[in-house]
Amino acid sequence: MRSQIKPFNGSFFHKDVVSVEQFTERREIDKLFKIARLMKRSVEGKRKRSDLQGYCIAELFYQPSTRTFTSFLSAAQRLGASYIVPLNEMTDTSVAKGESLSDTVRTLEETTAADLIVLRHPEDDAAEKAVFAAKVPIISAGSGKKEHPTQAILDLYTISESFTDLSGLEVTIVGDLKNGRTIRSLSKLLVLVCRGLTLNFVSPKGLEAPEELVAYLKDRKTTVKGFNNLREILPKTDVLYVTRIQKEWFTPEEYLKVKGSYVVDRELMKKAKKKMIVMHPLPRVDEISVDFDNDPRAAYFRQMRNGLYVRMALLALILKRQVK
Ligand code: NCD
Repeated sequence: MRSQIKPFNGSFFHKDVVSVEQFTERREIDKLFKIARLMKRSVEGKRKRSDLQGYCIAELFYQPSTRTFTSFLSAAQRLGASYIVPLNEMTDTSVAKGESLSDTVRTLEETTAADLIVLRHPEDDAAEKAVFAAKVPIISAGSGKKEHPTQAILDLYTISESFTDLSGLEVTIVGDLKNGRTIRSLSKLLVLVCRGLTLNFVSPKGLEAPEELVAYLKDRKTTVKGFNNLREILPKTDVLYVTRIQKEWFTPEEYLKVKGSYVVDRELMKKAKKKMIVMHPLPRVDEISVDFDNDPRAAYFRQMRNGLYVRMALLALILKRQVK
């Protein structure tokens, strides 16, 4: 049991991953990405690793997930760990009987002797609650509207694969900036590593980025600009990060009003630079047309694959003192 979330301070060993604010310096990112590249080589070379042989990873997901869930699962397996996955947290576990998150976390720890728990939950502070209840490290796989740290890390990894120099980047984030957790984590992480960053926030009226996030970014010497029209800023954009309207937080009528506000397609992308990338944490609904998928600037498929490498690196670095 821990009473606080520790900053990484140069090492991931036995740390929780709850917020990108745990990163204190660029060196931590470099270390993580070096190991992610090592994992990539193992996966591409079809070599199973044994870093986590004898270890057990438990996944506890209270919200739907495809990418995050399967990539953590595959990451554990590819490192030689076993894994535990309750079938459906809401209906098949004692959550349905009213058990608290803290008790469920403690139960999973005892019954499975898991060495690490990956948690996705609709509440903003769920990961913190789990950390306070658990003996083993907790990785947040998305907490409410607040944080999705591992998504931000894989996003940054994808950006740094495309741009060797991150200074002066112009990043445009479009969509539901009010409710999306990925954009919060990503923009906070970007300010840590990109000097001279410009962040353009494009959203429908009423779905603007929260004021406290904008203040946080501006306090850290980032230029933040708000737009309603994507066309206006697209020609200058190096990274276009598209997000879904977060339907689950809307009434059906409210959702219909904003659905389809932005659609990135081949026609629109004629206005963009030749050397730029389009990203999306996915799932997409209608924000990126499939007619753009084969464009070399479409980075969202390799972005998903990078999730596997980054999550392998994180699991290994959290559970082992040395990863080679
Ligand atoms: C995101 C999430 O769950 O926040 N998905 C993901 O993990 N790739 C984005 C979303 O659901 O829109």
